[in-house]
Amino acid sequence: MRMNMDWRRAQVYSVEEIAEDVRKVEVDIEGPLPPFDPGSHTNVIVMIDGQRAVRTYTCIQTASGRLAIAVKRHANSRGGSRFIWSLNPGDRTEMTVPENRFELSWRAEHYLLIAGGIGVTPIYGMAKTLAQSGQSLRMIYGASSLAAMPFLNELRERLGDRLALFPADQGRAINLEAEIAALPEGAELYVCGPLGMLNAVKQAWAQAGRPVSRLRYEVFGDNGKFAETPFEVAVANRDVTVHVRPDQSLLDALIGAGVEMIYDCQRGECGLCAVKILELQDGMVDHRDVFFSEEEKHENRSMCSCVSRLTAGRAVIDVGYRL
Ligand code: FES
Repeated sequence: MRMNMDWRRAQVYSVEEIAEDVRKVEVDIEGPLPPFDPGSHTNVIVMIDGQRAVRTYTCIQTASGRLAIAVKRHANSRGGSRFIWSLNPGDRTEMTVPENRFELSWRAEHYLLIAGGIGVTPIYGMAKTLAQSGQSLRMIYGASSLAAMPFLNELRERLGDRLALFPADQGRAINLEAEIAALPEGAELYVCGPLGMLNAVKQAWAQAGRPVSRLRYEVFGDNGKFAETPFEVAVANRDVTVHVRPDQSLLDALIGAGVEMIYDCQRGECGLCAVKILELQDGMVDHRDVFFSEEEKHENRSMCSCVSRLTAGRAVIDVGYRL
């Protein structure tokens, strides 16, 4: 269950491959499209094995005034990117109007933007907007290779030497400590990328003694320490046991089994989908959220069902107040 969702019918207008394994899908949305800021998201109904599920993607402004999303094809897709990659012009789905939980503050004297892989989608919009309004910024962009970097040419044109590229296949690594040390006192850092990148940025930011309020981040919820494997979860006090496929989240499996769940971000950020772990009978929990602290993850008492998984085996969980 998600609250305050303004769902609209949407029709695919165009599909374009904008980098290696990255497709931009431009859509026409029913009704007037409200203006949206960089960092905004839309929720999309995707069909996974005949079941409706919701996935969240960053909104990209297009020259035509339509809304677009850029989606990377994941080898271990839980079904969302596979569905988006199956879309062709004329296909229909449902989407929500943009909402923003990763907003620019507009108060900083300088902005450091860091993008990892497809995490560039919100950072690209922020870089464009900040550059257009004459703000002081630097953007760091890391990915597996230059070919895997969407929006690269446009960013080069707009940012010039304010853009630093770190393609891993050229052996270039980001020196986070040096980047943070070079920032003026009133600077803010915005980062979107995989969990490992986010944790490294958070650690370097804290070690530099920078205020937590000036670091803003967003993470992909679908990358963990371990490969996706099937596992089983029994819901205490319910006659429900779910078998979670490698391409499926625990949240989707629970909803599919008729367990009423409350959730929101589906990226491991808000904690609304958390379930209590009463018993872990085998395997480990691969915590993929940024909601719980490292200590809480170590205790293994709860997990965010939208992104976190078991490496194998079975657990007994409590979904609390949910029916
Ligand atoms: S829905 Fe937000 S953490 Fe799972």
